[in-house]
Amino acid sequence: MRESIEVVIIGSGPAGLTLANLLQRAGVGCVVLERQSRTYVEQRQRAGVLEHDGARLFEEWGLGESVLAGTTAGGMLEIRLDGQPRFFDVAALAGGRAGRIVPQQVLVGRLIEAFLAGGGDLRFEAAEVTPHGLDGSAPTVTYRDTAGVVHEIACAYVAGCDGFHGVSRASVPEGALTTYTYEHGYGWLTVLADAPAPYHPLFGIHPAGFAAQFARGPGASRFYLECAPGADVGEWGDERIWEQLRLRLGDAGLPTGPITEKLFVEMRCFVADPMRYGRLFLVGDAAHIITPMGGKGMNLAIADAGVLARGLRAALREGDERPLAAYSETCLKRVWDHQEFSRWMGEMMHEAGNATLAGPFRRQLARARLERLFSSDAAARAFADLMA
Ligand code: APR
Repeated sequence: MRESIEVVIIGSGPAGLTLANLLQRAGVGCVVLERQSRTYVEQRQRAGVLEHDGARLFEEWGLGESVLAGTTAGGMLEIRLDGQPRFFDVAALAGGRAGRIVPQQVLVGRLIEAFLAGGGDLRFEAAEVTPHGLDGSAPTVTYRDTAGVVHEIACAYVAGCDGFHGVSRASVPEGALTTYTYEHGYGWLTVLADAPAPYHPLFGIHPAGFAAQFARGPGASRFYLECAPGADVGEWGDERIWEQLRLRLGDAGLPTGPITEKLFVEMRCFVADPMRYGRLFLVGDAAHIITPMGGKGMNLAIADAGVLARGLRAALREGDERPLAAYSETCLKRVWDHQEFSRWMGEMMHEAGNATLAGPFRRQLARARLERLFSSDAAARAFADLMA
């Protein structure tokens, strides 16, 4: 079957769904092709905080009500150093710019609903999605539907929103992109549990290693535990997890609950430059991955989608190609800024606790860096600005 549309979006994660909704609002025709089922996409639990700028983006495009209704503002952090709590008011220090607590699966579910309610074309279980002719003026994307029918969609532009392992970046010829990779030298075990959420996002710095607890809805928490890179999840039985969390978070009475997911997170970063090849634009994880420290992954994906939507609207509706031409440069500025922040924060949170990671001298430096956040207004504001 042959069809034609202005933009084909590959992938329906936070990046693809944000872009689809914004293009719909701009009156730009698009179709979204997703490999997984709707249920799978709506149940995938990952990020949990939408930055202030992300919330503003949805509001500016008239999606504030449908996407953010009923979500709560998050502005305070707790950092527990050797079991001693300290509170950091991000929202106040960032001039009132508070993020919103929105579990990714809630955001994704709402974006799907909003897009479909507006008459959007979202095709799940699309197999063998393949872009063609990206370096020419008339690209196409082919895929096979669940009935085995092969579709070919002609388009003006392709948006690669298919994550780190997707087909979009893999379709770019070798050598056309410069890629940067960085390993942080420690691993994280992430645990999802039906345990009461903490009042504020909680970071624990302790000689036994870093730990954290974040809300994922009122009755669920995501925990993180520093572990050796390449650690085996099998070595982390439930009892060991709770014992280490109690120790590192300095809370002997930490409420527990059934563990619903245990995963090893690779603390790896990746950036592709440029985030474009011909008529293909790479968006979100397809172009860059970042560690969860600082909560920037989903927010970078949403920010990219905002820049691309404005560029496509200008190119297709106003005949102005300049914002689209600047897409990669505009996004990469933010990507590198947040990579630096995430690395800076990760180094501080890990090295201030575990002296075996970087040695006792670096441990003292990391503690001085942390101390500065509570003693210097300028340092606190700089941190809050990046966090918000
Ligand atoms: N064909 C079609 N769809 C695909 C293909 C393919 N070949 N490969 C992957 N996909 C789909 C995946 O099934 C997924 O739904 O693309 C989507 C990519 O979504 P994400 O991996 O969530 O990437 P993105 O939208 O960029 O969001 C990135 O969100 O969860 C946070 O912190 C996380 O950094 C991450 C951010």
